[in-house]
Amino acid sequence: MFHNRAIISIVMGIMLLLVLSAPLLAQETPAYLNSDLSAEERAADLLARMSLEEKIGQMTQVEKNSLTPADVTEWLIGSVLSGGGGYPSPNTPEAWAAMVNGFQEAALGTPLAIPVIYGVDAVHGHNNVMGAVIFPQNVGLGATRNAELVGQTAEITAREMIATGIYWDFAPVVAVPQDIRWGRAYEGFGENTDLVTELSTAYLLGLQGESLSAPGSVLGTPKHFIGDGGTTWGSSRLGSAYMDQGETPVDEATLRERYLPPYISVIEHGAQSIMISFSSWGGLPMHAQSYLINDVLKGELGFTGFTISDWAGIDTISEDYYEAVVTAINAGVDMAMVPYDFERFISTMLEAVENGDITLERIDDAVSRILRVKFELGLFEHPFNDPALLPAVGSDEHRAVAREAVSQSLVLLKNEGEALPISPETQTVFVAGTAADDIGLQSGGWTIDWQGGAGNITEGTTILEALEAAVPETTAVHFNRFGRFENFRDDAGNPLIADVGIVVISEQPYAEYEGDDAVLALAETDWSAVERLRPLVNKLVVIVLSGRPVMINEAIMSADAVVAAWLPGTEGEGVSDVLLGIEPFTGRLPYTWPRDIEQLPFDFANLPTEGCDAPLFPFDYGLTYENSESSWVDLAIECAGG
Ligand code: BGC
Ligand code: BGC
Repeated sequence: MFHNRAIISIVMGIMLLLVLSAPLLAQETPAYLNSDLSAEERAADLLARMSLEEKIGQMTQVEKNSLTPADVTEWLIGSVLSGGGGYPSPNTPEAWAAMVNGFQEAALGTPLAIPVIYGVDAVHGHNNVMGAVIFPQNVGLGATRNAELVGQTAEITAREMIATGIYWDFAPVVAVPQDIRWGRAYEGFGENTDLVTELSTAYLLGLQGESLSAPGSVLGTPKHFIGDGGTTWGSSRLGSAYMDQGETPVDEATLRERYLPPYISVIEHGAQSIMISFSSWGGLPMHAQSYLINDVLKGELGFTGFTISDWAGIDTISEDYYEAVVTAINAGVDMAMVPYDFERFISTMLEAVENGDITLERIDDAVSRILRVKFELGLFEHPFNDPALLPAVGSDEHRAVAREAVSQSLVLLKNEGEALPISPETQTVFVAGTAADDIGLQSGGWTIDWQGGAGNITEGTTILEALEAAVPETTAVHFNRFGRFENFRDDAGNPLIADVGIVVISEQPYAEYEGDDAVLALAETDWSAVERLRPLVNKLVVIVLSGRPVMINEAIMSADAVVAAWLPGTEGEGVSDVLLGIEPFTGRLPYTWPRDIEQLPFDFANLPTEGCDAPLFPFDYGLTYENSESSWVDLAIECAGG
């Protein structure tokens, strides 16, 4: 039988044990795991517990096909990415989540259980994922001039990313492209610094929200620091037929005036990761620019986040990898997108620290920046995907916003004789051009694969499908991609003349330097479709799908209406809505449109505004249904000899 005293002494014994073990318990829950503490405090606590190998691991980002989850654990890797086309098999949102969660579990299996941060180029939607909504490329968003809408597209992109476990987006591109022959012109919002600043800031806020720690927030990455849009034709390290990754030959005042404002703005609005450019300034690769990264970006602009190299960007500095790594890290690169041979990067880093060529202070600074962001993002609290969001990937709700963005991105270049809108009384429409019925062509590069691809590459609605679904039952829509309608007959057996003909002409998809193009000419097959259709239709409409202005004098000459539709993505209804007059034309040119390839590169400060030396259409140009009169069109026809 128990005495009260015995019970009391047992209770007291337990209490004593608890008191004695308190310090022990505290040790078991380190401060860095306490989410009540600030990101700053947690990062400092964690850093103090880390070995050099663990620190270098945090600075290492590896492409997902170059390592296994087991490597993440063994090599203490801090970040993994999917490059363009870095999808799992099968390419479904569920498989993405499983893949990313798998790397995450491996990271959480390391002694300090530091989560990886997984990055992806979700540059117009979560665009490597089959079935995700694909928004217009930035060039089209630039044409909308609608910052709120741009922010919404980014917010939706973030949601689709979180469904797959990814909290880091290598976007927005804040380049201010000065020469549309650049294969990345479509990734920019336009040629004008103010426009880029406004829309890229809206995009960043859409991704991140007011704070990185808010639910629904993913880390954005304004890129590529700095001057990527200012390189000159032939200056590329890739050869004289390229301008991507080339030299931006401007003085510092111009560099600051033209290319720095977007960075100032995004930093003010919470940018915590910035990607370094492949390009050079003053003959020195950006990845080696200590002055611009350390002094200007981190010093003057007060950027407290971390910088990430571009894809093997460190390797561009020198043939000697050791020298390249030492130079880049000391120039202020905090994380290396290695992306392949991580063992070489890690061993080079270890050697450089041992030799004193990279100081421990520099390592601690880089790692603190990275850890702080991981804490702010809440990765330690929610390292995995949010499965509740999986049904939202490519949902109707998301597609509706993309459709609206498409409508607002269209720029009406010419509209004579009220060729547009297509009236409900229209009996026959002939549609031609491969691009009229091709999701891949209407989406461009960075769609499923790095270079994108023609054909049925993901779910969406083509322009043809959208038109067919939207016209009244009394309107017949016929499609032949070559424009071969000469055998169509009316009731009397005469050649059938359609009320309206639509030819969709397009560039082939491309990304980066593969899109550098010295001629900007469209395919002959497209032009022959225009020629074939002209005599068979009363009104001819030409729709141009391209990542930038291309040479279209022939279209301006022969068509009644010409529309620049950029690279609209998966929602073709956004085009039919406007063609049928359900939505208005509101888009305005984000790039000056050349009449002639010889006009490039433009000298913007001295652009002629009259005569045939003037561009075909100026920056900001765009007609509406209310006002389709244009002296520019008259001049275009005159200069083309019409
Ligand atoms: C591009 C970057 C991109 C990276 C990762 C590079 O080739 O320049 O914009 O973020 O690849 O895909
Ligand atoms: C140029 C400006 C020009 C503007 C709009 C900018 O990139 O530097 O001079 O006025 O684009 O065309």
